[in-house]
Amino acid sequence: MAPGAHERQVLDISNKTHDETAKTTSTSKNGQESEFRDYENTEHFDRVFKTYKDMHTNQTVAYVKEQHDNWLKFDKFSANIMDMVDKLADFKDESDPDCDFANKFHAFQAAEGARKAHPDKDWLHLTGLIHDLGKVMGILSLNKNLKR
Ligand SMILES: [Fe+2]
Repeated sequence: MAPGAHERQVLDISNKTHDETAKTTSTSKNGQESEFRDYENTEHFDRVFKTYKDMHTNQTVAYVKEQHDNWLKFDKFSANIMDMVDKLADFKDESDPDCDFANKFHAFQAAEGARKAHPDKDWLHLTGLIHDLGKVMGILSLNKNLKR
């Protein structure tokens, strides 16, 4: 059977990775080396700094209560999981600026990564697929183009 659209997209992104210029390594006290992204000396620094500064500055109890009042009515739209994943097709997360593909691809990449590392844990594959679906709220807040 020929791969479906989603499978082709997964295959298409399987060789894409984050920008290597933002990676650095660190050695922990127990001698284990780990890799993480550090934007300090990259072209992305100003945008990443602003994004996280805004998030941390505006994340107040009042803001969270306001968001609860807005979103927990579940009156914005109705969609199944794949519709939600499709809504992220053109969305790029500012907090992840060296990722040159949309969040839809990131969802499949996370799911496939989980499947590769833990083939026996189907719940983890699903978690990888859906972990960023909440970003649909950002799309709705920005351009209101989600249909009910
Ligand atoms: Fe993510």
